[in-house]
Amino acid sequence: MLSFTCLVREAREDDLKEVLDIEYKCFPDPYPLELLYRLRSLYSDMFLVAEVEDKVVGYVIGAIKWFRTGHILAIAVDPPYQGRGIGSKLMEEIMQRFQLKGARIARLEVRKSNVMAQNFYRKLGFAERFEVPFYYEDGETAIAMERDL
Ligand SMILES: CC(C)(COP(=O)(O)OP(=O)(O)OC[C@H]1O[C@@H](n2cnc3c(N)ncnc32)[C@H](O)[C@@H]1OP(=O)(O)O)[C@@H](O)C(=O)NCCC(=O)NCCS
Repeated sequence: MLSFTCLVREAREDDLKEVLDIEYKCFPDPYPLELLYRLRSLYSDMFLVAEVEDKVVGYVIGAIKWFRTGHILAIAVDPPYQGRGIGSKLMEEIMQRFQLKGARIARLEVRKSNVMAQNFYRKLGFAERFEVPFYYEDGETAIAMERDL
């Protein structure tokens, strides 16, 4: 579906302001810049950006947690670039990295109201496992979704 060249690579420190811009456009409760810096230093090989013509247009942050679980902490694509396969490409790359680190399942949480993202994850093989009430600061329930790797 990609009709342009999209490179997925590990984030550099100087990408994080562009990542923050996308956070603000996509989420009511964006991660603050300090947290993005911290996540990049903690999970440098699992903080990936998608780049189109030298512009950061999307990112995914993952981490290996619990027992052999690859956890997606965040993913977003700049709105004008959504629906063009970039989110799928970021997810494929992070899941490959999870596998290489020995993870057996991938896990994420998504707002119950975010039906679009749930459809996106279902298309990538994720299935709903359980709900987590009051997961988000505004009290919204999360749906935990998982898939085997
Ligand atoms: C969710 C998100 C990361 C998906 O990235 P994307 O680049 O738009 O996704 P893709 O183009 O790879 O789409 C893959 C599939 O997801 C589904 N999808 C994507 N956008 C959709 C939309 N607006 N409406 C319905 N389904 C959609 C479709 O099934 C699509 O497959 P198709 O194009 O063959 O129909 C992106 O839309 C986004 O950043 N949303 C806002 C932030 C967000 O909700 N993040 C997830 C938080 S848990």
